[in-house]
Amino acid sequence: MKALVLSGGSGTRMRPLTHTSAKQLVPVANQPVLFYALEGIAEAEVTEVCVIVGDTEQEIRAAVGDGSRWGLDVTYIRQDRPLGLAHAVATARPWLGSDDFVMYLGDNFLLGGIAEQARQFRASRPDAQIMLAQVADPRAFGVATLDEAGRVTALEEKPDSPKSDLALVGVYFFSPAIHEAVAAIRPSARGELEITDALQRLIEDGADVRSSIVSGYWKDTGNAMDMLEVNRLVLDRIASRCDGAVDAHSEIVGRVVIAEGATVRGSRVVGPAVIGPGTTVTGSYVGPFTSIAENCSISGSEIEYSIVLPGAIIDGVRRIEASVIGRNVEIVPTTRAPHAHRLLLGDHSKVQIPS
Ligand code: G1P
Repeated sequence: MKALVLSGGSGTRMRPLTHTSAKQLVPVANQPVLFYALEGIAEAEVTEVCVIVGDTEQEIRAAVGDGSRWGLDVTYIRQDRPLGLAHAVATARPWLGSDDFVMYLGDNFLLGGIAEQARQFRASRPDAQIMLAQVADPRAFGVATLDEAGRVTALEEKPDSPKSDLALVGVYFFSPAIHEAVAAIRPSARGELEITDALQRLIEDGADVRSSIVSGYWKDTGNAMDMLEVNRLVLDRIASRCDGAVDAHSEIVGRVVIAEGATVRGSRVVGPAVIGPGTTVTGSYVGPFTSIAENCSISGSEIEYSIVLPGAIIDGVRRIEASVIGRNVEIVPTTRAPHAHRLLLGDHSKVQIPS
């Protein structure tokens, strides 16, 4: 079995972070969300991986490399325009050949991996096997209808009136039968070749399409609040480690990772939290569910339930909560009165301030 990892797309809901960076590289507990997918694929004993890339190709290549760090053999194929998930399958068809494959959307986060589903698929070899999860608002997803025996009877992409609350998770197992179905479908109303429509086609043609309900946690990390929630879940599972320097005036409470080259002075860090390499925390409070990436400087500030990307400077700010702070962002005090906010914000930035 091979793996097809989709890592294109423009990530409009994650702007402004995605103006300069791929949405799949937004860090969760200081590791890009895409790396959790690659770990899951390696755990499922799949080694041949093709990453479909778009405009952010260079950045994805720089982060993932040849995949050897996960024991994977990674190649890249460029999808020139984001014409849909089924279009990505068609683009990769020469590479996929007549092999079975798992398609993994690079912005999907699954706690617990995919090893069990891969085992089931290899053992029973249906034409396709999908994963479903119960969601509050299915209209944002592909939606499945099941019969009493749990067989998939219909699939619909982002329906206005969903027939169930079972959303299609962005991990699909396919036999080569999917290629014919992909070739037979037409673009949807949003102008994309939908993998949901190709699956529906398989069902109509009498193919064996099976499903399993995700038992663990699943999230399509589309927006900042989703990222914060996934970050919380991953941090909840970390073990304490201190490879950096903590002075005698600091207090570390609960599970906290302090990376090599990180310095904590006169501060209180309450876990779960991670402090990245080369980052300095001085005279500050870092509260639960916070990830601070490498080479940041946090001084005289309080921050909780937040993600801070590399190189950010936060000085004299009380207090930051439920926030995602981008690369090399500076949040610093203004020099004197008047009591005013001075802002230089990129396009699509969002700031909420008590006033
Ligand atoms: C895609 C699929 C959808 C699926 C979702 C999972 O949606 O089209 O069926 O439920 O991924 O993340 P998109 O991310 O293109 O909106």
